[in-house]
Amino acid sequence: MARLYESRKRVLVTGGAGFLGSHLTDKLLSQGHEVLCADNLFTGSKRNIDHLHNEPRFEFIRHDITLPLFVEVDEIYNLACPASPIHYQHDPVQTTKTSVHGAINMLGLAKRLKCRILQASTSEVYGDPTVHPQTENYWGNVNPIGLRSCYDEGKRCAETLFFDYHRQHGLDVKVARIFNTYGPRMHQADGRVVSNFVMQALRDKPITLYGTGKQTRSFCYVDDLIEGLVRLMESPSGFIGPVNLGNPDEFSIKELALEILRQTNSRSELQFLPLPADDPKQRRPDIALAKSVLNWQPVVPLADGLLPTIAHFTSLIRNISAQTFAASKIAIEASTKSESPEWIPENRASDDTHDPRKQAD
Ligand SMILES: NC(=O)c1ccc[n+]([C@@H]2O[C@H](COP(=O)([O-])OP(=O)(O)OC[C@H]3O[C@@H](n4cnc5c(N)ncnc54)[C@H](O)[C@@H]3O)[C@@H](O)[C@H]2O)c1
Repeated sequence: MARLYESRKRVLVTGGAGFLGSHLTDKLLSQGHEVLCADNLFTGSKRNIDHLHNEPRFEFIRHDITLPLFVEVDEIYNLACPASPIHYQHDPVQTTKTSVHGAINMLGLAKRLKCRILQASTSEVYGDPTVHPQTENYWGNVNPIGLRSCYDEGKRCAETLFFDYHRQHGLDVKVARIFNTYGPRMHQADGRVVSNFVMQALRDKPITLYGTGKQTRSFCYVDDLIEGLVRLMESPSGFIGPVNLGNPDEFSIKELALEILRQTNSRSELQFLPLPADDPKQRRPDIALAKSVLNWQPVVPLADGLLPTIAHFTSLIRNISAQTFAASKIAIEASTKSESPEWIPENRASDDTHDPRKQAD
C-alpha cells in the first residue's frame, strides 16, 4: 500500500521474528509503515521474516530487550517474550527478566521518544480463574511460586509498570490481554495444544490429551488477533486498557482434537495423560470492552482457521512450501525424525554467561 511519507510511521516490533510478531510486521508493512524488528531469536526464527529480505521498509536487529535499546521510532509494540510453557520454562529467570527488565527498557525508550507503546500481555494474568468468562476487572487467581509463575507474574509486573509509567510520566500506553492464538508460523515444537495435536494427527501418532480433555479453551485465529492489536494501538489516547483480545467461542480440548482428526483424515487415537501443575480448567475472554471501544471481534471460525494452520504444519513436514514458510532443514529433520520434536533455541541469549549484567543478580 502506498503511503505518503508524512503519514508513514516507523514502528518498533519487539519479538518481531516470532509467531505473532511476524504477522504483525506483515500487517504494518501492508499498511505502508516502516518496521524495525528487534528480536534475540530465542524462540523466533529468521524463517518467519525471510520473505521480507528485500523489503526496504523492513529492518531486523538482533537484540535482547533485557538490555537497553537506542533507536528512533514513532510507535512500539512490545511482543518479545517466549509464550509457550515449554519455551518460558526453559529458562524461567530469563523469562521474568524479559517481561520485567524488557518492559522497563521499552517503557524508558517510549518515554524518551514520547511515543505510544503497546504491551502484549496475556490471559495468563488471570491464572486459574474463578470467574467465567474473564472480564478485565477480574484480578486473577495466580500462583506466585509455581512453574508458570515466571511468565504469569512477569506479565503481571509488566502491566503494573505500564500503568505506573502512564500515571507517573503521562506515557501513552496500551495493554492488550491476549488469549490463546493459533495460525501459520506457530512453532511446531512449542508444546501448545494446537501445534501438538496437528503434528500428532499428521503423523498418525496418538493425540495426547491432559486430564479428561473436558477443560475448555478459546482459540483465536492469528489474523483476527493482529487486527485487534492494531485497532488498540490506533485507539484514542484516553483508552489504555487492559483489554481482552481473544475468541469467546469455547471448545473443550477433546472437541479440538476431534476437529483436527476430521480435517487431517488422521488415524490417530486419543490418549489421556495426567494434568500438569497449574493448568487452568477453563479460560474464555469476555470481549465486550474490545467490541464497544475498538469495534473488534474475531471473524474466523475455528474450523476455517485450522485449515491454513494444518497446511502450515503439513508443509513443514513435507517440505513442500519452503518458499512460503521457509522451513529450515534442521526444523524439518527434527519434526520428521522425532515423535515430539525437541526445541532448540536459535541463539544462546538465555545463557547468563552472555548477559553483561550477570553480576547484578
Ligand atoms: N500466541 C499466543 O497465544 C499468546 C497468548 C498470550 C500472549 N501472547 C504474547 O504475545 C507475544 C508474542 O507471542 P508469540 O506467540 O508470538 O511467541 P513467540 O515465542 O513466537 O514470539 C516471541 C518472540 O520474542 C522473542 N524474544 C524472546 N525473548 C526475547 C528477548 N529477551 N529479547 C528480544 N526478543 C525476545 C523470541 O525470539 C520470539 O521471536 C508474547 O509477549 C506473548 O506473551 C501470545
